[in-house]
Amino acid sequence: MPGPLPDGEPMPSDGALPASALRAVGARGFGVYVHVPFCASRCGYCDFNTYAPGDLPGWRPEGYADTVLAELELAARTLGAAPAVDTVFVGGGTPTLLPTDDLARILAAIDKTWGLAADVEVTTEANPESVTPASLRALRSAGYTRVSLGMQSVAPGVLRVLDRRHSPGRAAQAATEAREAGFDHVNLDLIYGTPGETADDFAASLAAAIGAGVDHVSAYSLIVEDGTRLAARIRRGELPQPSDDVAADRYLAAEQTLTAAGFGWYEVSNWATTEAGRCRHNLLYWTGGDWWGVGPGAHSHVGGVRWWNVKHPAGYAQRLADGVSPGAGREVLTAEDRHTEEVMLRTRLASGLPLDVLDPAGRAAAERARADGLLTIAGDGQAVLTFRGRLLADAVVRDLLG
Ligand SMILES: C[S@@+](CC[C@H](N)C(=O)[O-])C[C@H]1O[C@@H](n2cnc3c(N)ncnc32)[C@H](O)[C@@H]1O
Ligand code: SF4
Repeated sequence: MPGPLPDGEPMPSDGALPASALRAVGARGFGVYVHVPFCASRCGYCDFNTYAPGDLPGWRPEGYADTVLAELELAARTLGAAPAVDTVFVGGGTPTLLPTDDLARILAAIDKTWGLAADVEVTTEANPESVTPASLRALRSAGYTRVSLGMQSVAPGVLRVLDRRHSPGRAAQAATEAREAGFDHVNLDLIYGTPGETADDFAASLAAAIGAGVDHVSAYSLIVEDGTRLAARIRRGELPQPSDDVAADRYLAAEQTLTAAGFGWYEVSNWATTEAGRCRHNLLYWTGGDWWGVGPGAHSHVGGVRWWNVKHPAGYAQRLADGVSPGAGREVLTAEDRHTEEVMLRTRLASGLPLDVLDPAGRAAAERARADGLLTIAGDGQAVLTFRGRLLADAVVRDLLG
């Protein structure tokens, strides 16, 4: 089951934000995230806040869009005239379980609420088996500009361990259909290090992703999340624990193969063929932007205030029906919180971390990391992870923060 939410302080029932937060909205970009908490079935490794038929009395993706629109109305009252929206990301769960008209209606409502910037990026996540050429064409016509598909692997044995519903070839085919529907920007997510996966399996997955002509690949090391079916199977000894050494080998394979195919890393787990292919919505998260997160369990950040919605879809819908903010708690970020986040997130970017944000102890740690071959420090003072540093990114960040 999904993990608990942070504690924080209570959210005011009308969701009102401090004036200081409102004054700062959009200084580093403004995005909207819409969470869609439905999946056709739960993959054994996944602890996202999502529900399959049987998990939720009255599980019904139809009708969910009206609840989203109700939170957008509350957001409009709370934020007032925010700047035009730079990025929209509809994620899940499986957004493409919603009727395509509803995904169009949600985007139109965001446009009506704040306006979409002329060059807005609008992404939807999609499961390979829940899109068709017609639904992709309809999404493109509705204004979506980017599709992010969960491919994970093309190896039948790996897909079985991961409990994926799609056939080995379906994700690359869906990516091709998305390009044919007019999407210039298509991402495929891969997972590596699944128990039983061979080096050849992962090489075949990389080759299939590249062969599909996409401009973005995300590759994640399989995380064994507490409380998942995967964790239980490993605990019972049915599957081996993923190995860090294997994960490092796979990461090297990803870097070498994607680089040879014309991709460049721009974040530790993300590669794109061009600057325009990078996910601007994720970059907004990683560079201190503001966003309103709509939906159960969604997190938001506006002007140094972070809040999170109640997790359960029924409780979330009930609060909105009662005219009450669905926020479960919030925290006003201190200068120290912001510093920690900036170091954690920017260090993972290929654009690097400006050394002048570090205190003297952090700068000394950066110098040690440089001497150990984990960071390079450019003439303009940007600290950028080396390949070995990317493998040890969490440890580097810990040292920089002291
Ligand atoms: C929230 S999922 C949504 C994508 C879509 N529902 C799908 O599965 O096709 C986004 C991505 O997170 C990654 N992911 C989820 N759980 C993970 C885990 N435990 N370890 C590594 N990656 C994970 C997967 O690559 C997945 O495609
Ligand atoms: S389909 Fe995606 S969101 Fe749903 S359970 Fe699987 S990985 Fe998680």
